[in-house]
Amino acid sequence: MYRTGWRFAATLGLMSLTQAATAASDDDVIPIEVEADKTGATIDRNVFGQFAEHLGYGIYGGVWVGKDSKIPNVRGIRKDVVSALKAIKVPNVRWPGGCFADEYHWRDGIGPQSARRATVNANWGDSGEPNTFGTDEFMDFVSQIDSEAYVSVNVGSGTVQEAADWLAYMTAPATSAAGKERAANGHPEPYKVRYLGLGNESWSCGGAMRPEYYTDLMKRYARFVRNYRPEQMEKGAEPMQRIAVGPNGPDTAYTEQVMKTWTEHDWAWNIEGLSLHSYTTGGWPPSMSSTDFDRNAYASLIKETLGMDGMIASHSAIMDKYDPDKKVPLVVDEWGVWLEPAPGTNPGFLIQQNSLRDAIIAALNLNIFARHADRVRMTNIAQMVNVLQAMILTQDEKMLLTPTYYIYKMYVPFQDARFVPVNFDAGTYREGNVELPRVDAIAARGKDGKLWLAVTNLDPSRKATISASFDGLAIKAVSGEVLTGPKVNSINTFDNPNMVVPKPISGTVRKNSVTVDLPAKSVAVFRLDE
Ligand code: AHR
Repeated sequence: MYRTGWRFAATLGLMSLTQAATAASDDDVIPIEVEADKTGATIDRNVFGQFAEHLGYGIYGGVWVGKDSKIPNVRGIRKDVVSALKAIKVPNVRWPGGCFADEYHWRDGIGPQSARRATVNANWGDSGEPNTFGTDEFMDFVSQIDSEAYVSVNVGSGTVQEAADWLAYMTAPATSAAGKERAANGHPEPYKVRYLGLGNESWSCGGAMRPEYYTDLMKRYARFVRNYRPEQMEKGAEPMQRIAVGPNGPDTAYTEQVMKTWTEHDWAWNIEGLSLHSYTTGGWPPSMSSTDFDRNAYASLIKETLGMDGMIASHSAIMDKYDPDKKVPLVVDEWGVWLEPAPGTNPGFLIQQNSLRDAIIAALNLNIFARHADRVRMTNIAQMVNVLQAMILTQDEKMLLTPTYYIYKMYVPFQDARFVPVNFDAGTYREGNVELPRVDAIAARGKDGKLWLAVTNLDPSRKATISASFDGLAIKAVSGEVLTGPKVNSINTFDNPNMVVPKPISGTVRKNSVTVDLPAKSVAVFRLDE
């Protein structure tokens, strides 16, 4: 068993809060014990997945500009965005929604561009949906960024037949009628649909279904929506993973019902994932500004986001009851910070700025997912471009990388790395009536064989000196990058894109330990060379 520092600190209960906050001076050193000789579950690269919905400028403008655009593109897909996403090694992209998915009819988005059927995106600002970005364009995009497709089918307003036909279009051999249609649209080879979402938020925008109603429907989709690509057919090398709708935040009704139903499955159907959606909002409807906030708002939003740990633990406990072997992963396929829409923007487009606070929140959530790596094997931050906690913002031909983007870049070595336990007790810091851990940390043994350590200093005003030890392992060198900014609400803008960007950070190697000074409000990732 491992224990995490802030959980450990939270359970200590020995010092009063005031004592805890004031006992240490700036010169205090925080010991972090990295149990380098132990490894836990693999942190699946899919934990770093993205979500791209037809919503505002998430697809149109953000990814798709069309072949005739003056913005440099490959077959209509922005070159700059592709190149930025390739650098963060996006493992999978969830598409086309979201709420949009349960009103999406795939036939509107295939065939000659001039013949595409324009519709209205009733979920998101009643904007025009030209359907110029459809299945073939999505698959092209996924391939351009070297990622994998996570397609959500329409369970809310579609039919099992419509979804089955869509999968046939994407995956059946070119000798079949469906495959011939795909080939006529320029793609004779079957596409790889690695992940299949069986609806979206069926407890709300996806049809407001009782859990029992949903599971009856889910079984039909799980049975009949087939993947015909030979490598992915049953018992194939890369079987498609079907992800059922699961809980809405802490509500366990869907968790219980879907997992109980799963235990009753036979040869005819199965699911390979249970979705969880949970946003950090600061209340509903979201009314916290993404740029204009103080340390109190910073602290309270971080406090809220740390609730992800307990939420995963409670759903995992239910899943363990039905699935002790952890065959069904918990897939947190919508999470992130959802704040007030940026002033002057269409509120239905969910456009918000992205600050250093968002970056810290991203790192804390990735750390939580890593600690639950045995059950949480996939997540999708909402959303990839121009929507909610985006990696990338675009404005016509301009592109901006957000602080959250840089967290994903710095965390690349954690993709498919083996979790390594860490122990620490950094104490807490206090803002008003909010108490938070001072630091958070995870470690992992990367695919490259190196030991990696990620440390977040949550405290906005106090540096943290950490001294990491490695169970006797001789460390020869340490190198890393740190992301910080002048203020917790520092942002990157089109005029000043380098306000919050990673900078090199190093430390002192002494015997078997490494000492580093972490600036206040920062996230650092270190590589330890043995
Ligand atoms: O990410 C925005 C929306 O949030 C999604 O469409 C929906 O699934 C969720 O409620």
